[in-house]
Amino acid sequence: MTAAKITATGAYVPEREVTNEDLARVMDTSDEWIRSRTGIGSRHIAVGESTSQMAVKAAMDVLSRSRWEAEDLQFIIVATGTPDHLFPNMACLVQEAVGASHAFCFDLNAACSGFLYSLSVAKGYIESGMYERGMVIGAETISKVVDWTERSTCVLFGDGAGGVIVEKGERGIGSVVMGADGKGGDVLRCYSSNILCHSEESRKRIDYLHMDGQEVFRFAARQVPAVIEEVLDREGLQADQIGHYILHQANERIIAAVARKMKEPAEKFPVNLSRYGNTSSASIPILLHELDQAGALQPGEKLILAGFGAGLTWGAALVEWNN
Ligand code: UT7
Repeated sequence: MTAAKITATGAYVPEREVTNEDLARVMDTSDEWIRSRTGIGSRHIAVGESTSQMAVKAAMDVLSRSRWEAEDLQFIIVATGTPDHLFPNMACLVQEAVGASHAFCFDLNAACSGFLYSLSVAKGYIESGMYERGMVIGAETISKVVDWTERSTCVLFGDGAGGVIVEKGERGIGSVVMGADGKGGDVLRCYSSNILCHSEESRKRIDYLHMDGQEVFRFAARQVPAVIEEVLDREGLQADQIGHYILHQANERIIAAVARKMKEPAEKFPVNLSRYGNTSSASIPILLHELDQAGALQPGEKLILAGFGAGLTWGAALVEWNN
């Protein structure tokens, strides 16, 4: 059977780094509070740079590490909850900028689960024989939808983009399980459609991101192990057969709670949120790229990718690494 595999990764984060100490100088917070509650030490913030511009840079990075030219791509999916505007979609902007003239393009919003959802769509296209290769990108400028006077949320997030090439192969992306619970929509929401924030005036009208942190924490600690178990069951695998668990980077304590529940060592759950914060749909592809670049992923190694976020949404995938 035709499978879909990930054959190249890439990422981009904006240059401006904002440390916990930087934040403590302008609001009532501390490095100690942020680190101990979340594991976050700093984050990158887009200054004069949009979601689409970061997505383009990530796409160019992915292409530079792949054996394909932009014109070879048949589709581009951009997972984002923070597009520059409503339309044209971010994927079309990426297509134009990189010259992927044969690709059809759309965005997908499943908040922090967006990369996982998009990967499943790419897998479906490829396994069904409809298409042979495309690009999936997660890109976010969360900094423009957080209230910078609200310390309980703004310290958690960062901006960035990451992506992968998904193409036809013999093995690769295995079982994917996704879910959603619309009843939980209220616990993490941003109702604003005015996200451009060109002026101070427009920023005043914005409805910023709101989050019931403890509720999201409980949801993630419960749902992520459950969805991973479902993927393992479908694959007939035991938890200890997984080399690395690449989870959405929201909070180190959530990741540790999942590791404990899975009875797996914390070392199998890599984290980079100390440097980037929560970059929503970009967190999994950025981490995957860093691990790949560091040579941390062995050929044939089985990985679990798992995301969760607003919606509420969640998803997990088994990936046999053969990049
Ligand atoms: O992609 C999914 C995104 N969301 C998440 O993953 C969020 C999951 N939830 C969490 O990570 C945690 O719930 C938080 C890190 C958001 C908050 O941690 P917490 O242990 O649940 O803290 P809390 O909200 O109960 O706040 C405890 C105290 C409060 O003070 P009082 O009422 O005890 O005096 C807050 O006002 O900490 C205070 N606080 C802060 N203090 C310093 C809240 N934010 C800050 C801050 N700096 N930035």
